Amino acid sequence: MKLAVIGGDGTGPEVVAEALKSLEALSKRFDFELAYDELDYNGTRYLQTQQLLSDDELEALKTYDAILLGAIGHTDVKPGILEKDILLKMRFGLDQYINLRPIKLYDSVDSPLKHANSATLDYVVVRENTGGLYTGVGSFEAKGTGDEVAIQQMIYTRQQVERCIRFAFDYALSRHQNDVWRGLSEADKEAGYVAQLTLCGKTNVLTYVFDLWERVFEEVAKDYPTVKTNYVHVDAVCIYMVDDPGRFDVIVTSNMFGDIITDLGAITQGGLGVAPGANINPEGVSMFEPIGGTAPDFTGKNQINPMAAIGAVQLLLSHLGYLDAASCLENAIKVVIKKMDSQLAAKMGFSTTEIGDLVVQEIMT
Ligand code: IPM
Ligand code: MN
Repeated sequence: MKLAVIGGDGTGPEVVAEALKSLEALSKRFDFELAYDELDYNGTRYLQTQQLLSDDELEALKTYDAILLGAIGHTDVKPGILEKDILLKMRFGLDQYINLRPIKLYDSVDSPLKHANSATLDYVVVRENTGGLYTGVGSFEAKGTGDEVAIQQMIYTRQQVERCIRFAFDYALSRHQNDVWRGLSEADKEAGYVAQLTLCGKTNVLTYVFDLWERVFEEVAKDYPTVKTNYVHVDAVCIYMVDDPGRFDVIVTSNMFGDIITDLGAITQGGLGVAPGANINPEGVSMFEPIGGTAPDFTGKNQINPMAAIGAVQLLLSHLGYLDAASCLENAIKVVIKKMDSQLAAKMGFSTTEIGDLVVQEIMT
């Protein structure tokens, strides 16, 4: 396994170091070779050299099996620069058109949802990752004047929508290879359904873009007769994510809505400290990251929870087909998470590095 490791800024390098510790332990236990290059594509390098992510560097990333990323963002750099020309450049340039974000509550993790448990909070958001409002297309007119107009366009091609929706259907099926989604009614099960896919949109207002999404969703659904489908507006999705998350199995949505609802989802699963995500190009190089940011207030304090980065390694392993190592790591995460439940490792009496050590210990026993 050959990885590109981009620690990034803030607490990124700290959490990635713990993630690498568990990966190294797994490579010993499951006997696979692990090699990685640590790359300094981050805000600090930008401040020193004005370099972001060059086209050559982007090309070179294509030679790895996968990318492990910490977080990118720097308090001394204006918001938007590093995001656009490092993080989004990787997502777009490597055509990682899926952002997969599992929302899963592990036992004993403290959720702000008082009724949620590991049986009722377990779904996955498939966020489209290359289009929509993220394309950066827009303009100012009469900038700075009283008549100013700012335009930001939500752009989707049918191809972008279709490949994302197909991925979501396939993913819903693969998630239930050995079981049937527990939210289905008896009648649904008898009808032969095994999984559910929800389209999250805003067809009542965004009448062009989500009209396209809905039409493509309905067309593609015909190829997946065992997946039950439904449509929910994004605002209602937010209500259900809090009030009744057990109704969701897999949700597919646009880039911007996916960004927003997965932060909400992360908080319900115990916070950004435990929430990982995968930027997937099914035919190319994928990138795995904690969904949280650089947490500047905690940088260098050995206090940040590395569990989301360790969870990103689990997603990486299952994506690359190292299934035994992935399930070993998931068990280790479950055991260690039982001993802590907060975004801040230190609050529970553990440091960042101690949590990494506990996971390694669990892997090796
Ligand atoms: C995320 C982040 C990014 C996004 C930012 C940093 C550009 O919030 O990964 O969710 O909006 O996609
Ligand atoms: Mn986000």
